[in-house]
Amino acid sequence: MTAESPVVAIRVEGLSHEFEGRRVLEDVSFTVEEGQILVVMGASGGGKTTLLRCLSGLLSPSEGLVEVGGVDVRKEPERARERLGFVFQYAALFDYLNVEENIAFGLRRKRGSTSAQIRETTERLLRLVHLEGAEKKLPSELSGGMRKRVGLARALAMTPDIVLYDEPTSGLDPVTAYSIDQLIVDTRRELGVTSVVVSHDLTSVMRVADRVAFLEAGRLTFFGAPEEFRKARRDAIEELVEKARAEAFLSGTFESQ
Ligand SMILES: Nc1ncnc2c1ncn2[C@@H]1O[C@H](COP(=O)(O)OP(=O)(O)O)[C@@H](O)[C@H]1O
Ligand SMILES: [Mg+2]
Repeated sequence: MTAESPVVAIRVEGLSHEFEGRRVLEDVSFTVEEGQILVVMGASGGGKTTLLRCLSGLLSPSEGLVEVGGVDVRKEPERARERLGFVFQYAALFDYLNVEENIAFGLRRKRGSTSAQIRETTERLLRLVHLEGAEKKLPSELSGGMRKRVGLARALAMTPDIVLYDEPTSGLDPVTAYSIDQLIVDTRRELGVTSVVVSHDLTSVMRVADRVAFLEAGRLTFFGAPEEFRKARRDAIEELVEKARAEAFLSGTFESQ
């Protein structure tokens, strides 16, 4: 790898998807370089989660090419998934396993790791996500922010090259959201992973993004640097900020810590 020719980690070309005859993604194309953080923005229903599902191979798109780490996701979804980590919107932890067991879950199923190696990896990840001391707690004893951090540690345990995050800060108070953003940046710095983050939060976008993708009704209407996005799409941004505020108000109090 040289500075002049960065490695492409994700390539999407002419991606379209229909649900029951209705187009929810329309001719989407972009590339993400290795180690970059791409933030996907857009109003609710714009197709952000569908795009992540196509990247992860959980959904096979109606048309187009999706490649992660050089693997054609439509042809070899299993192989593509070996390179991917997925941090779901609602953490999706195993309720009956404690923090440590949740993080080690995938590792225990992978052949060739000794229990000493699993313990070492789990301890390192607990430190990375700042959950030292919480290893014996059950998900029900954790706050929303802590659950999201366990979800991230569990995804990272499988040493993915690419991590997909679906609204990792939604429903969190600003301080906790900031700590999750920091974690996304730290993860990139320490592990060199490429990240795709779906977010509504403009402050967070400006803080973490190398590239912004803006989806409007399934079409990619902007792709570029965050500063350009801010300048070019002031109208759309104001609308998003207004909607996010209204949603936060309607959903009541924030989940804290
Ligand atoms: N499994 C599904 N079946 C039918 N329609 C779906 C399905 N998943 C999503 N949709 C529709 O596709 C559109 C995009 O959804 P989604 O990707 O979840 O948007 P976002 O994550 O940006 O809010 C929405 O209109 C949604 O109702
Ligand atoms: Mg979504």
